Amino acid sequence: MSSTPPPDTEFNALLDTKVRIVNSQLTLLLSEQQGIQEDLRAALAYTLSAPGKRIRAALVLWSCEAVAEQNTHEARIAAAAIEMVHTYSLVHDDLPAMDDDDLRRGWPTCHKAFGEATAILTGDALLTLAFEVLASRIRDPWLAMRLTRQLAEAAGGSGMIAGQMADLKAERTAGSVEVLEYIHTNKTAKMFRCAAVMGGMCGQAEIAQPDGAPGRLKGGAGQLDALAQYGLKIGLGFQIADDILDVSASSEQLGKTAGKDIKANKCTYPAVIGIEKSRELEQTLAREAVEAIEPLGPAANPLRQLAQALLAREK
Ligand code: IPE
Ligand code: IPE
Ligand code: MG
Ligand code: MG
Ligand code: MG
Repeated sequence: MSSTPPPDTEFNALLDTKVRIVNSQLTLLLSEQQGIQEDLRAALAYTLSAPGKRIRAALVLWSCEAVAEQNTHEARIAAAAIEMVHTYSLVHDDLPAMDDDDLRRGWPTCHKAFGEATAILTGDALLTLAFEVLASRIRDPWLAMRLTRQLAEAAGGSGMIAGQMADLKAERTAGSVEVLEYIHTNKTAKMFRCAAVMGGMCGQAEIAQPDGAPGRLKGGAGQLDALAQYGLKIGLGFQIADDILDVSASSEQLGKTAGKDIKANKCTYPAVIGIEKSRELEQTLAREAVEAIEPLGPAANPLRQLAQALLAREK
């Protein structure tokens, strides 16, 4: 009998190592934050300690390791920062005025546990804290500025918020592949691209050089471009999988209410192109993501495993 673990078990063990790093970084950052009002601190602690998958944060760490062999202090801060922004986006996404959800990460949503006003403020505090930690904990001011700009662009009005606006506007419409691609790219894929790029920046990834310049990678793209393309592809695939799981998985499995998209008349990939075509598109995106990072070599293996694991995810 072989002692080699099956690939999914091996990947889960890899992810688990990253989840631990991210969770302890988040706990530390919150505990070191002075002067937070006590009810708000309770809501922040509750929200940050709920068992999220931490995929975007792990992506920051793996992208850093893909170009620098190890994850750095800067990458761990950037990982915590993007997890804070992502968590805030879920707190607000669940509010009655948005998707009106009761369950998140297996626990009552923030507004169910603490009330709507506190949930709004918890989201506000998480979003703000993310940028505070980038500004105060990244030692190189130039890197801090580049990370801040990446995260602000991905999360803001021409990124995740644009996608969330379009998502709400598309409810009760027939939708189209073009509209869906816009929604999913903005609400989700840009944050994945941001995670990969921030990790690359923390690992001092090479940026694209003019033709023939030293340091130019095989295939023409710089390391940062390769990571950006990879992130956008798996991010789009990730949201397609989220749409599929909403119709195919149970609430227990997901830790959030299943079947919500049909009830809310959301514009989703399964609704517009059907489950089979959605799965095919996911496969294509995973393959293209892996192709994009081909020049990064073996150090990017966890990123390749992540692209595969996302196809098989059940939560
Ligand atoms: C949920 O993201 C929202 C989407 C963009 C699909 P995740 O599925 O990563 O949620 P958590 O962080 O694990 O709870
Ligand atoms: C949310 O998409 C994406 C965000 C930017 C928060 P969904 O509304 O589909 O996410 P879930 O299904 O509630 O996690
Ligand atoms: Mg939503
Ligand atoms: Mg939602
Ligand atoms: Mg969803």
